[in-house]
Amino acid sequence: MSSFKDLRIVDNFYQTSSYFPMPTVMISSLAEDGSTSVGSYSLVFPYYIAGKDYYAMVLEARNSSNTAQHLLAGRKHIALNFMPEGPGLNHGHYHKKIVAQGWPGDTPAEKMKNFGFHLEEGLCAAADPSEKRPLVVSEAYQVMECTWMTDLENAEEDIGRVLEDGCYPEPYKNFNGITSKYGCHFILRIDKVLMKPEFYDNIIDGVKAEHWPNVLICHGYRDSKNFWFAPTKRVIPELLPIRNATLSSVRYAADRTDPDVHFTDDALEMILNVPRVFLPTVLKGCVKWAKEHNITEITAVEMKIINDKRSKEKGKD
Ligand SMILES: Cc1cc2nc3c(=O)[nH]c(=O)nc-3n(C[C@H](O)[C@H](O)[C@H](O)COP(=O)(O)O)c2cc1C
Repeated sequence: MSSFKDLRIVDNFYQTSSYFPMPTVMISSLAEDGSTSVGSYSLVFPYYIAGKDYYAMVLEARNSSNTAQHLLAGRKHIALNFMPEGPGLNHGHYHKKIVAQGWPGDTPAEKMKNFGFHLEEGLCAAADPSEKRPLVVSEAYQVMECTWMTDLENAEEDIGRVLEDGCYPEPYKNFNGITSKYGCHFILRIDKVLMKPEFYDNIIDGVKAEHWPNVLICHGYRDSKNFWFAPTKRVIPELLPIRNATLSSVRYAADRTDPDVHFTDDALEMILNVPRVFLPTVLKGCVKWAKEHNITEITAVEMKIINDKRSKEKGKD
């Protein structure tokens, strides 16, 4: 007998048939008059995380929302403002004012009249003033300034399509553009990540729990009444136990990587803690570097240079 019950999967299963933690994001987009319009969203997730020409997020949105309409009008720049919990300016905590930005049907002008946060220029506008960008939310702990990638799945074809009775008829895209009668998906290239200094330092100079943003986790709209939230009061680290390989097993893989490049024992000792699945990639990377530098033997000295190069690349701007 299972210890679980079988729960029916219905529309919006992430909040109707599950407990699913999501970020609380205020999305800024460009309204028709060039002003910044801000709506609340949670279905925003990493899409391309490595191995592509750029990094990307995916947004799932009601296609008649202001945000979707602004993108579908061809104003492709938006900003994802990740919100913490906070004390608020005039009327209560941040989460209260974030829910206020979530009422469907208000025009951007109506919405922005009572906007409870501050707006400022992002960093993309300064880097390229020729492209108009929406402002970003000053209270966010981080912001991703993004561009909708309409070359994926010919999403350009959806630009300029007109709503019919508040929805879109077929045809629909699979993953980028108008994807159903009421829905759309947007693949968003991340142009810049803007980070508040305290949290920037916590990533670059070493991680400490006390310098974590008070990330506001959204658990969705439930009970046909409330949006449910959880502030991040405390994060806990858990050490990943390092499983060192033996020198002979790493030697076995190293000797089979390339006949022209030899690794000394002291070099291999420096990569004993690399998990087995990543070992071939690491060894091939070392061989590639050796060939580029006309080196036939990798000792601890060369391995240190390679490691330093790798950590520099990881931390590069
Ligand atoms: C915390 C929160 C999260 C939300 N997440 C989403 C979402 O991921 N996708 C969506 O289509 N609507 C979501 N909504 C509803 C939108 O906020 C609502 O459709 C709103 O009208 C969008 O604003 P806009 O029309 O200015 O773009 C959310 C609302 C709240 C309060």
